[in-house]
Amino acid sequence: MRGAGHVGRVRRPARRPHRTDRPDRTGPHRAREADPDLIDPAELIAATSVEQLAATAEQYFATLDDVEQLLTKPFKEAGEAAELLVTFGQVLRGLQPATGMTVLDFGAGTCWTSRWLTQLGCRVIASDISPSALELGRHLYERAPVLGERPEPEFLVFDGHRIDLPDASVDRILSYDALHHVPNPDDVIAEFARVLRPGGIAAFSEPGATHSLQPQSQYEMRHFGVLENDVIIEDVWQRAQDRGFTEIRLCLLDSSPQWVDLPTFQDVRAGREDPSVFPEPARAAIGDRRMFTLRRAGTETPDSRIADGLTAALSLDDVTVERAGDGVVVSGTCRAVNTGTRHWLPSDSPHGPVFLAPASFSPTGPSATGSRTPVGGSRFPAEETAGCRLVGRLFFGFGLRWGMFPMLSGSSSTS
Ligand SMILES: C[S@@+](CC[C@H](N)C(=O)[O-])C[C@H]1O[C@@H](n2cnc3c(N)ncnc32)[C@H](O)[C@@H]1O
Repeated sequence: MRGAGHVGRVRRPARRPHRTDRPDRTGPHRAREADPDLIDPAELIAATSVEQLAATAEQYFATLDDVEQLLTKPFKEAGEAAELLVTFGQVLRGLQPATGMTVLDFGAGTCWTSRWLTQLGCRVIASDISPSALELGRHLYERAPVLGERPEPEFLVFDGHRIDLPDASVDRILSYDALHHVPNPDDVIAEFARVLRPGGIAAFSEPGATHSLQPQSQYEMRHFGVLENDVIIEDVWQRAQDRGFTEIRLCLLDSSPQWVDLPTFQDVRAGREDPSVFPEPARAAIGDRRMFTLRRAGTETPDSRIADGLTAALSLDDVTVERAGDGVVVSGTCRAVNTGTRHWLPSDSPHGPVFLAPASFSPTGPSATGSRTPVGGSRFPAEETAGCRLVGRLFFGFGLRWGMFPMLSGSSSTS
C-alpha cells in the first residue's frame, strides 16, 4: 500500500524517435538499393570536379533559347509562382533584411531574388558560378528597373571555391535553391561564415532529403550532369557549427496548403481536426523543402531600420497654446524614452532615422504631420532624449498627437 504523500512515478508519453534526414534512414538510400540504375549524387560528385560542374551551369545559361521566359521568373506560370512567392516570403522573414544592409545572393541565377532585395533597399551582391546567368541578371535590372533611389547591385562570379569578398563584409546571405547544386558544401559554408558579419544571417530555401530521387532530378543528372543533391539538414547544421554558426532555425511551412470548406476550417481552428486533413499533409509538405536560417556567432546591434520592437514613452512639458486664424498653435517640450529593444539611428541617418513630430488627427484619422524634429541625445534603449521643442498647428475639430516619426507613434499627449 502506498503511504500518504507518496508521489507516483510520472508517466510521460512515449517519445517518438526523432525523424532525421540522414540517408541511412531515409528514402534515397533504400531506393538506390532497390534500383541500382538510380543516379547517386555522391557518385556524381566523386566523378566530377567543381570546375566541370561550373562548366555545366554555364553551358545551360549560355545556350538558353528562351531567355525571355526565364526572365519572367517567378511569374512564368501561376502554380510555380504561388510556390515561389510563398517560399520567398518565408525566407525573407528568416533573412530579416533591412534597408542599407549588404546582402549576398548566392547562386542568384538570373537575379529575380536579387532584384527584389534591391527594391527593398539592400545593397545586393548577386553571385553565381555562371557568368552568363549574371549577364542575364544585369539585363533583368535594365529591362525592369527598380523604383526609387536604391543601391546599385554588384555582380560577382563565384569560382566554386572562394567568394571574392573580404572577411565580415556582408550582413546577410540568401541561398535560394542553390546550395543543393554545390558539390563542396563544406567549403561553401566555411566561406559563408567568413564573409558574414558577426551575428549575420544566412537564409536558405532548398529542396529536402529525397530531392535526388525526383524524376526531374534524375533526368537533370543523367542527361546534363547537373548536381541535384539531397539536403540533409543534420549534415548542414553539423558543418555550420564546425564553421562558426551558432543558431539554426527551421521554417515549419506547408507551402502548398490545402483549401478547405468552412466547417473543416472551423474544426481545425477549434482543434477538432481529423489528422489526415491538416497535420499529416502539412508534415508531408515540410518533407519536400528545407527553409532554414543559420546565424553566425556574435551579436548584431538591432536598430531602427526594422520597426518591430520600436516603442517609446513620450512626455510633454511647458505646453503653450496660442490662437492662430482658424485654429491654435500648440507648442511644448517633448522628451522621449526608448522603451524598445532597438537602437535609434540618428535623425540624419539615410536608413531608419528617428524623429519627433506632431501630427494632427481628425475623428476619421491622421490628417497632417508637422515638421520633423531631430531626436537629441539618446540613441540607446532605456535612455531619455534631450527635450525637443515641438510646435503643432491644431485646427478646430482636430486633435493633436505627439509621436515619433516615421517608425514610432508611441504614447501621446492630445489637446
Ligand atoms: C535552381 S538555380 C536557382 C537560381 C536562383 N537562385 C533562382 O531562384 O532563380 C541554381 C543556381 O545555382 C547556380 N550554381 C550551380 N552550381 C553552383 C555553385 N557550385 N556555386 C554557386 N552557384 C552555383 C546555377 O548557376 C544556378 O544559377
